[in-house]
Amino acid sequence: MDKTIIVIDGFAPDIDGVADAARSLDYSPMVYEGVEYSGMSGRGMYFPAAALSDAMGFRVAPVETIFRCGIVGDKMAVWIHNDLGVAGAEWAAILYLTDPPAHDSSGTAFWRHVETGLVAQPSADSFSPEMAQQFNIDGQTMRPWQMDGYVAMRKNRLVIYPANRFHSRWPYRAFGSSPADGRLIWVGFFREGK
Ligand SMILES: [Fe+2]
Repeated sequence: MDKTIIVIDGFAPDIDGVADAARSLDYSPMVYEGVEYSGMSGRGMYFPAAALSDAMGFRVAPVETIFRCGIVGDKMAVWIHNDLGVAGAEWAAILYLTDPPAHDSSGTAFWRHVETGLVAQPSADSFSPEMAQQFNIDGQTMRPWQMDGYVAMRKNRLVIYPANRFHSRWPYRAFGSSPADGRLIWVGFFREGK
């Protein structure tokens, strides 16, 4: 797997408090930058800047932060994607707030785009808007992709990856039916602060 993917177990000392706060939120659909997302809430509520800075070895500046709740049968507006749509984000972090049910598994997959061989969206100077559009279309199904890495969901596991890295929830299907038993995660986007 790409060395720039960092996994830290036992990340948050107050994980139960963070999870309880996430469970108390409303996850009705919301629109962000023109795209409707389901299962998002709590923008800006939580950002463990000091612990992330320790993990990265530089001062982390928050860009955006949100809780997400996946449930059985939900639909994702985008599936295999990168996070450069979050303006200013250089890195993304996911903190898993629960374990999947005993008979189930869930996590985050990282993907290689087969036709181009790319694992991440290139910088703007070597990249065209047409390519971005093609990645968006190709991201609707797994056929144009090869899985290049996988991090299993574990309560209080943090995964950090570059914002341009292609990734998705895996498998597509989440679990549970409400914030009480669903696939609860915290997602933070950040950059290197000055
Ligand atoms: Fe993402």
